[in-house]
Amino acid sequence: MNEKQLVGEKAVEYVRDGMIVGLGTGSTAYYAIQKLGQLVQAGLSIKGVPTSVQTENLAKELKIPLTTFTEVDYLDIAIDGADEVDQQQNLIKGGGGALLREKIIARAAKQFIVIADSSKMVNTLGTFPLPVEVTQFGHKVTKSHIEALGGKATLRQMDGEIFISDNGNYIYDVKFENIMDAKELEQALNLIPGVVENGLFVHMADKVITVDKNKQIVIR
Ligand code: 5RP
Repeated sequence: MNEKQLVGEKAVEYVRDGMIVGLGTGSTAYYAIQKLGQLVQAGLSIKGVPTSVQTENLAKELKIPLTTFTEVDYLDIAIDGADEVDQQQNLIKGGGGALLREKIIARAAKQFIVIADSSKMVNTLGTFPLPVEVTQFGHKVTKSHIEALGGKATLRQMDGEIFISDNGNYIYDVKFENIMDAKELEQALNLIPGVVENGLFVHMADKVITVDKNKQIVIR
């Protein structure tokens, strides 16, 4: 079993009958959702809230019942991947472009479980460019304000086109050298008009499930 599958399936052990479950996005969350699909087929009763259209489609294929924030105002648990996890369990997320819904769902969850293979564990955040979701309107001006904070911003492209998020926004991937104060940067970015959200998740993870050098699961 690869590391993503190991951590993804481990996280599902925290899901109980009757729970409202935030369903993450990406190749690690994929394994958690597959496992949930199997358990639902075997009789587990849950409702999922997907963090992206991609995950919504996967959950529908697997016949996982879904709900929305018009029906619920909190989630029991959310399970999601990360692009980087530092030693304080702060995260960079948004490599898959789903950071806004991922952050809303993580914040609404009583328990936010992060699943990360060993390549995601870092001492200091910032090797992975930080995704920042911005409105299309005025995005070049927004970019210059983002860069004034010390990063180099690149507009995300996909298949030769500008990438558009599920919320109709653009994403800048911003390379900061080392993110020394994640909370300060998270707040400074979100004060810029035109920034919708950024991929720094500070003090949000309740548990991180990863794998050590001996391929053993580590929960911290
Ligand atoms: C999507 C995310 C993902 O959780 C993150 O990019 C990790 O993805 P993967 O599990 O495929 O490595 O934040 O927006």
